[in-house]
Amino acid sequence: MAFLKDKIQQLKEKKNAIILAHYYQAPEIQDVADYVGDSLGLSQKAAETNADIIVFAGVHFMAETAKILNPSKTVVLPDLEAGCSLAESCSANDFSEYIKGHPDHVVVTYINCSAEVKALTDIVCTSSNALQIISSIPKDKPIIFAPDRNLGKYIMAKTGRDMLLWDGSCIVHEAFSIEKLLKLHQEYPDYKIIAHPESEEHILKTATYIGSTAGMINYVKQHAHQKFIVATEAGILHKMQQEVPNTELIPAPAKEDNTCACSECGYMKVNTLQKLYDCLKIESPQIEVSNDVRDKALIPIERMLELSK
Ligand code: 13P
Ligand code: SF4
Repeated sequence: MAFLKDKIQQLKEKKNAIILAHYYQAPEIQDVADYVGDSLGLSQKAAETNADIIVFAGVHFMAETAKILNPSKTVVLPDLEAGCSLAESCSANDFSEYIKGHPDHVVVTYINCSAEVKALTDIVCTSSNALQIISSIPKDKPIIFAPDRNLGKYIMAKTGRDMLLWDGSCIVHEAFSIEKLLKLHQEYPDYKIIAHPESEEHILKTATYIGSTAGMINYVKQHAHQKFIVATEAGILHKMQQEVPNTELIPAPAKEDNTCACSECGYMKVNTLQKLYDCLKIESPQIEVSNDVRDKALIPIERMLELSK
């Protein structure tokens, strides 16, 4: 693996490439990345990079957002199968019909959706800035929020805004078992539960802190003397442990027993270090977005980036 990491490093320099990775990527991928972050941080990095090639170690909608922000750059994804259950829940055709039925509504979409859905959107948000984005919309304007119903419900509870919610969800965050979580917390009462807002309401009710992946990492850094049960994709533990080496962390338990007894994103985990090397070497698979979709999708992404400065 060290050999492969060296080869990636050399090739990256030769080709003036940047590797952007999400916190849910495998540890060895995070460790070769130039930047590891949440969806907002990754979009901000993609918007400001001078690299010629962006290797996106994440899922398709993230790489697509990077391409929308950088139409003249080459954007590669290690495996095109790296999708997202949220993005898949919301086809552009169905969404277009839905918003036609509510023409007076402001359309807000979570960044976890396709470029075509973003092209139908007024403003994009991530879990880092969702509360801020929704609060920026005048109170008399009705809102459609898509595609994550759990994040939508959380925003409604926090802001007091009523919104029409698309019925999508993240399979990873819906896999947490409330029974197992409460039992675990009884066994470890001195641990605090922290959770991602894609989780279901009953999980969020148990949490001391709710936030994006970057928010959760910051919270652990700021409370380094405490111990945590972490309710999000288990890949985040790698960066948390690196940032706060002595902290004690337990991943929240999943309903189904699997290899890690936690919840892992199968989409994120199709990327491997070997595939990352290969896609940088052969500059494929590349992400493409048509000019028409790109022009429309850029507007709500730029609105979000402007409001998040
Ligand atoms: P953030 O990293 O922006 O919190 O998003 C989590 C997620 O599920 C990404 O797919
Ligand atoms: Fe999509 Fe959930 Fe995987 Fe994130 S963790 S990419 S929201 S399926």
